[in-house]
Amino acid sequence: MEWVFWGLAAFCAGLVWFLLKIATTIWRKPLQVKKFSEAQGISGPPYRLFSGNSTDITRMTDEQNSKPMALSHDILPRVLPHLHQWSKSYGQDFIFWFGPNVRLVVPHPEIIKEILSTKFGNYPKPPTDPLARQLLGKGLVDLKGEKWAQHRKIINPAFHMDRLKGIIPTIVRSGANMLDGWSKLILLGASEIDVQKEFNDLTANVISRTAFGSSFTEGKHIFEMQTKQMILAVDSFRSVYIPGFRFLPTTKSRQRWNVEKEIRRSLRQIIDARERTAITEKSGRYGDDLLGFMMSESKEQRRVNVKSNGSLSTEEIIDECKTFYFAGHESTSVLLTWSLIYVTRNEKPETKPFNGNGFKWKLALRNGRLQGETRFTHRNAKRCCSVAFLPMKLGRLSIPAGTQLEIPILAIHHDPALWGNDANDFNSGRFNEGIAKAAKHPMAFMPFGAGPTICVGQNFAALETKSVLAMILQKFSFVTSPSYTHAPLLLPNLKPQYGAQLIFCME
Ligand code: HEM
Repeated sequence: MEWVFWGLAAFCAGLVWFLLKIATTIWRKPLQVKKFSEAQGISGPPYRLFSGNSTDITRMTDEQNSKPMALSHDILPRVLPHLHQWSKSYGQDFIFWFGPNVRLVVPHPEIIKEILSTKFGNYPKPPTDPLARQLLGKGLVDLKGEKWAQHRKIINPAFHMDRLKGIIPTIVRSGANMLDGWSKLILLGASEIDVQKEFNDLTANVISRTAFGSSFTEGKHIFEMQTKQMILAVDSFRSVYIPGFRFLPTTKSRQRWNVEKEIRRSLRQIIDARERTAITEKSGRYGDDLLGFMMSESKEQRRVNVKSNGSLSTEEIIDECKTFYFAGHESTSVLLTWSLIYVTRNEKPETKPFNGNGFKWKLALRNGRLQGETRFTHRNAKRCCSVAFLPMKLGRLSIPAGTQLEIPILAIHHDPALWGNDANDFNSGRFNEGIAKAAKHPMAFMPFGAGPTICVGQNFAALETKSVLAMILQKFSFVTSPSYTHAPLLLPNLKPQYGAQLIFCME
């Protein structure tokens, strides 16, 4: 009977240990962090057991999304109501909670420079949700440390401006196809067009063509499968979260896994075919598209760094292709959409349709500050040793290791302290002396992030947006349609909730 006693005792001890660990995680540690922050003058909304402030955020956001807003740039109260309200109640730097994990909002450009640039090694990206990782691939967005540096070194040259100039004909061809479709609609009397959908198709086409060039048809099919994968994933994100449930072999999970298998198999086929062609033709060339550049650069790294093997494996190239689609397609599409909507507003469309003559595309792009697609980025204060709570210095603050830092890019782009009292007004003149001097701090404008992890595709996005806008503005005049409802929604990019209907006529 003795063994029963000891077995029971071990079980009870295990249970007590487990309960204590849970109590520490969800109660003791948050209180400790709260006290530590308050001692430095940093407070925030009350911590709630289990959910932290997640339910508060969902409630505030749902409330805002239930009604449209006036056509103005003052979008923060609607799209990030928690940031807007809590920064008013608790001051610009405040803390809030995702479950038991604390997040410190850091809205000061000088401190952001430290996080993203000068001390970037101390602030790694937070771990990616496993489901998001399956969608994005284990590419640049997800990678950290040495692996990230190795990939970035190989991918950077593919996005240099001199190489990207080669994609202009592709953009122009895809853009011209889209505009031909618009002209036909207008001639048939259907002058109202939802540009959101149009730009979504256009940017998907452009990224498929530039990533896969000669293998466009297969590439487009792969990207369509990625869209399917995203729809399945969004379904899982929406369902009630039970840890580990997403990874059980349910019907939905199996569908996701099958799509993933098919995407990887198709990409592997394209890569293998190019390898074979390069060998049989003895050309050593893999094609003039992003995939081809990545393969050539990877081969070059293999040649010069035989020992350190700095090249990318086929599976790693597959992951990067997946990343390009998700990182580079919708972001550019929403920039184009908002540029058109706001161009009509800023040129007083109430009295006359906006006319492209003499237009500078920059006008539209500069709206990006106000209607910027990037809401925030996150970093973690690095744990440098086993002492979990060991604080580190960040500006005037001392923060516990592991604290998640939220850099509220959208809020910074609207901050009157940086942009003046007319922060919410469109004023193209502020950029006359260059972007760095447009506000009180050079880092007040960072739609593409900053530091070593700055968007690798920023030249690509700018080239595509400029070219397409120039084409549209040469050919059409437009106003917002009476059926357009201004309701920006974060999903996860900033999109018009009910579409972007504009009325076009030909010049
Ligand atoms: C208007 C369009 C775009 C916007 C606003 C945008 C914004 C951003 C931002 C803010 C980051 C930095 C995130 C962080 O540091 O946490 C980023 C990173 C990234 N972007 Fe973009 N992006 C755009 C277009 C593109 C395009 C066209 C591509 C590729 C074809 C692309 C690929 C990437 C990749 C791979 C990263 C990760 C870089 C790294 O960690 O090294 N983006 N983007």
